[in-house]
Amino acid sequence: MRILFLGAPGAGKGTQCKRLAAKLNLPHLSSGDLLREAVKQGTPAGVAAKGFMDKGQLVTDAILIDMFRERLSGPSCANGFILDGFPRNIAQAKALDLLLEELKAQLNCVINLEVDDSLLSDRITGRRTCGNKGCAQVFHVKFAPPKKEGICDDCGAELTQRSDDKEDLVAARLKTYREQTEPLIEYYGGKGNLQTVGGEGDPDEIFEAIMTTLNTNCLIKK
Ligand code: AP5
Ligand code: MG
Repeated sequence: MRILFLGAPGAGKGTQCKRLAAKLNLPHLSSGDLLREAVKQGTPAGVAAKGFMDKGQLVTDAILIDMFRERLSGPSCANGFILDGFPRNIAQAKALDLLLEELKAQLNCVINLEVDDSLLSDRITGRRTCGNKGCAQVFHVKFAPPKKEGICDDCGAELTQRSDDKEDLVAARLKTYREQTEPLIEYYGGKGNLQTVGGEGDPDEIFEAIMTTLNTNCLIKK
């Protein structure tokens, strides 16, 4: 099963993909997480990416395309994957099309998580993420608070705030989304495998709606 998630910053892609990956036993490939790890490790890709991320702009296509080519061609993705954050513009979507053609594979479903703009800023600025790479659980100070403030429920590590999750960057991230990523809704709509799922309300109910969509419209096997 190969699934791609679209949605604005803060729409809940990471939250839902993490659950779906556990449920379907598929790798969750988050472009943002991969880039943040590259920044932390100080790799050449990370060094090049940091300046763009700090401004809420897209990182150079070639960096992302290389990153995903390597992963999608690897054995861990042989049975499928869940993409979160890649592709993020039409050029990346076309590169993914070519890559899938080379791999003789296709996307089974593209899910667009729809959330009203008015909710996104609060979601983004209140997000806290577990600093333990192996865990990386996502919390929210209001909407999904940890049992103990600042500490991950799952592994006990300290929660951190992403450096781009600041109020003054939200508008720039949304602008980038509108200009460059939102056109992908039409792109995948034209290919016939786009499904829209409402991303507002209880995360458990959203997850159920995603599962129903996958079962009914995308014919998942597990
Ligand atoms: P990335 O990390 O992908 O950030 P994003 O797209 O801005 O999306 P977010 O991770 O902010 O939101 P999300 O939808 O995952 O929401 P989450 O589930 O965490 O990208 C960061 C940067 O990397 C980009 O700006 C760019 O510079 C670069 N980049 C990445 N990919 C790239 C690419 N392909 N090309 C070029 N550059 C790229 O939820 C958010 C919060 O809301 C959480 O606190 C959560 O607990 C809460 N929440 C979730 N669901 C609900 C709900 N139903 N109700 C209430 N709260 C909820
Ligand atoms: Mg995310």
